[in-house]
Parts: sequence; structure tokens; C-alpha cells
Amino acid sequence: MSGAVVVRCPAKVNWSLRVLGRRADGYHELDTVFQAIDLHDVLEAEPSRGITLECDDPELPTDRRNLVVRAAEALFDRGAARGASGAALRLRKAIPTGAGLGGGSSDAAGTIVALDRLWGLELDRATARRIAVDLGSDVAFFLVGGTARGRGRGERLETLPFLGEVPLLLGVPPFPLSTADVYARHARRLTRPDDGVSVSRLSALKAPEEKDFGPARNDLEVVVFEGWPELGRFREALVREGATRALLSGSGSAVFGAFEDDRAVERAAAALHERFGAWRLLPARGVRDAVHLVAGGDLRSSR
Ligand code: C5P
Repeated sequence: MSGAVVVRCPAKVNWSLRVLGRRADGYHELDTVFQAIDLHDVLEAEPSRGITLECDDPELPTDRRNLVVRAAEALFDRGAARGASGAALRLRKAIPTGAGLGGGSSDAAGTIVALDRLWGLELDRATARRIAVDLGSDVAFFLVGGTARGRGRGERLETLPFLGEVPLLLGVPPFPLSTADVYARHARRLTRPDDGVSVSRLSALKAPEEKDFGPARNDLEVVVFEGWPELGRFREALVREGATRALLSGSGSAVFGAFEDDRAVERAAAALHERFGAWRLLPARGVRDAVHLVAGGDLRSSR
């Protein structure tokens, strides 16, 4: 697409995720540390009539069920006020869906950045953030990127010092998990005595990392590893293969490990490939990026 606005939409992992309780609005109060990673989708936008979405993954809906379309709709009136008649959006997916890697949320944040540029909206930060938060709990993080702490639904963000380009290995099992379903299981469990702590203690943790990243704990592991034990086994295998930290990402289904260097990632991937043949193993690393323009307009002012 010549002349198109092109936006890179990074994935994320969670260095930790504490679920503090259930709120009156049905959401869960969180304290989490997000990390943007180099795995990314690419979103392109061109002027058009109405809003259309094409996606290279035939499994994904291209109607209002897709957060990209909902984000575009949320901005449409502002665009029309500036004379725009619509946008043709194309999404090239690399981030697995239903994996807790934030792909849909990042694509939605990318849509805000792309259409802001395409339609000349000149959204201020607070407005972009408000639109993002209305779309989903994780969307605002992708406007910030890097390393950030998220509280509330995950949308109350505080930028943290970038933790570096930590080498990671992501393991994606051959099935997605529904965020809403995982939280619902967690909520049911909260009403029972807390016998899940021992599972959390399986967390792989060596002392130096704890100081840098906070405790390696994702409170959703209790219910996810109970329901899908292979995910817990994968995490244990990551630790055995040298991960300094290994955790479920978000509400899953991806499980990731942090390693000393790229060689260690390669060695672990080779060993895990033997045992978890149906899983996708994706090397990645932490990045400072938020969603950002890579073509179309003045790139510097978009960051
Ligand atoms: O905000 P988002 O639409 O991404 O959340 C998807 C679902 O995950 C929510 O409908 C809710 O069931 C659950 N959720 C939650 N607490 C959060 C974030 C998500 O219960 N902090």
C-alpha cells in the first residue's frame, strides 16, 4: 500500500501478575508488570469509504468482534469532523491470539495511532488513553510500552525503568484461552479456601531477578495449571532448561521463560521442541517500544 500509514504493534508478557480481588463491576483488581516484546503485528491504514478490515489470519473476525474495528468506530466521528470518509485497514498477524500476549489489545492501540495520523486527529495523550481504556483493560499499556506497572483493571499505568532486552522463549500451546473464562474460574476459586499458594511457589526464581522484576508470580497460574496441566509442565521444563524466570503470560495460554543469553534460549528451544512438539516456540526479547508508526507522516512525533 503506497502512501499508507503503517504501525507496528508489539506483543507483551507480564513479569508478574497479582490478582488483588474482585470488584463490584465484575473486573479484577490487578497489580501487574507489563513488558513489551519484539514480536509484533503490522497494521496498515489507507483512506477509504467506511471502515473495512482485512486480516491475513482467516481465523480472526473482521467485523465488530475485532477490536481494530471497534477502535476505528470509536474514532470515526472525530475523523468525519475533519473530512475523512473512512479507512481501509489491513492487519498482518504474527502475535498468537488467545495467548495472553496482548495481540488484540496492541492492534487496537495501533489503530488509534494509525487513524490519528491518517485522519489528522491530533489526539492528546489523555484522549487517546481514554479511548484505549474503553476498548479493553490492556490497550492503554500499548500506548506506553517498555516496562510498566499496571494497577486497577491493568489500565492505571506507571512507567518503570526499562528492564533491558532480556532474551525470552515463548511457548504457545495449540489452543487459545479465553481471558474472561480464566478470570471467571479464578473468581469461583476465590470463594474457596486458598489452597493455591503452593502452586504459585513452584515459580522459578533466582535471587537477582527477584530484586529487578518483583516476585515471579502470576496468580492466574493456579486455575490455569489446574485446568490445563500441560502448561504447568511446560513452565517446569523451562526452568529445568535454564530459565531464570518462567511464568504464564497474562491469562495464558502462552508460557514464557527469561534466559541469560540467546544461546541459552536456543538450547532450551531445541530441548523443549522434543517434548512439546505441538507447541510453537518463539524466541523474543524485551523492547522499549510502544505501538508506533513505521511509515506515513512525521515518524518522530508519533512516539
Ligand atoms: O478488559 P478486557 O475486555 O480485555 O477483559 C476481558 C475480560 O477479562 C473481562 O470481560 C473480564 O471478564 C476479565 N478481566 C477481569 N479483570 C481484569 C481484566 C479482565 O476480570 N482486570
